[in-house]
Order: sequence, then structure tokens, then C-alpha cells
Amino acid sequence: MENSGKFITVEGIEGAGKSTNLELIRGLLEDAGREVLFTREPGGTPLGEAIRELLLDHRHDGMAPETELLLMFGARAEHLARKIRPALEGGTWVLCDRFTDATYAYQGGGRGIDAGRIRVLEEWVQGGLRPDLTLVLDLPVQTGLERAGNRSAPDRFETEAARFFERVRRAYLDIAAAEPGRVKLIDASLPLPQVQARIKTAVRDFLGACP
Ligand code: TMP
Repeated sequence: MENSGKFITVEGIEGAGKSTNLELIRGLLEDAGREVLFTREPGGTPLGEAIRELLLDHRHDGMAPETELLLMFGARAEHLARKIRPALEGGTWVLCDRFTDATYAYQGGGRGIDAGRIRVLEEWVQGGLRPDLTLVLDLPVQTGLERAGNRSAPDRFETEAARFFERVRRAYLDIAAAEPGRVKLIDASLPLPQVQARIKTAVRDFLGACP
């Protein structure tokens, strides 16, 4: 579509610094004159946020991986129908805190669900829609867990063992290697100013390539 907005996503394991850096990216896009819808997954709509609560709540510890996968895509279908597609079609840029790469990483890598199953749902729910740019904030699992450890009340994912996050990280690295055009890998273990310098370069390169 000629005048459609661009779809940018940010990914990473726990403690990678997504929140701080999402704010930076939002500022860069707005400074470049883009109207930005800032949203997150799972969530982004009233129903999606209700599904998010189910997904993160320890009352549902031991949820079957298939249930988790389908709930992620349930929230995503709602998000796409009500927020993401209308925004993009209206020329608004969408900046999303996680999207389907997180499903490949957490439900695929982390929980061990076959990527082929995820791909079927991705195609069914999204059609051809994929992010235009994805930043994966990468750092060693131990560093991430130490950073995230300062936060209160860990949710159902945050209490997973380090080896779960090792598989999640591996899956993100595999995605970045497989799709270097769309996915930019950022070394988030560096001091914040250096991380942010790399993010600025990636976002400005992307903006520079957009008509
Ligand atoms: P957040 O902590 O980044 O807000 O995301 C909530 C959790 O949901 C996080 O631990 C990653 C997880 N998640 C998945 O497992 N699969 C997905 O598809 C998405 C979007 C998030």
C-alpha cells in the first residue's frame, strides 16, 4: 500500500532494556515527523490485555504450551483487527513491544513447539503482514536475569529457569541470522549510551530508506 505506515517491533529476553529503548525509538520516529501508535503484545486492546493477564498469572502455572500459543495468537488477532491494521492503513506508524518473533522465541524455542505450527497460525492470523523493522536487543541470559531481578513480583514467564531463556535467546539469534534485512541485532550488554547509539543508527537508516 502506497501511504501505509510502517510496522516496527522490539524484542529481547527479560532484562534486555526494551522499555527504555522503546521510549528512545518512539522519540526518534516522532522527531522525524511520523505519527506513532505505541502498543504491546500480548495486549494492546481491552480483550488482548485480559488475555495477557491470563497468560502472565501464576494461577495458570503449567498451562499447556498449545493453550499458551493459541492465547498469544488470540490476543494478536484482536490487536491486528482493531488497532494495528487500521493504524497502518491510515498512515500511522506502529511501534510494538514484542510481536510474532516472541512467539517463535518463547513458545517455539522456550516451550519447544514446532516452528511449522507457529507458521501456520502466523499465516492464518496475519496473512502477509510482517514487521518492516525488528530490533532484537540481545544480551547474555545471566546479565538479563540480574537486571530483571530488581523488579517486583515476577510473572509466569519471568520465573522460568535460565535454560528456558537460553533457548529463547537462541531462537531470537536464529531469526536475526535468517532475516538480516528485517531484523537488526543490537548488543544490549554494552553500556546504555552505546546501545542507544546503535539503535539510533538502525532507526535512522530505516527512516532514510523510507519514501
Ligand atoms: P513483556 O514482559 O515484554 O511485557 O511480555 C510479556 C511476556 O510474554 C514475556 O515474558 C514474553 C511473553 N510472550 C510470549 O511468550 N509470546 C509472545 O508471542 C509474546 C508477544 C510475549
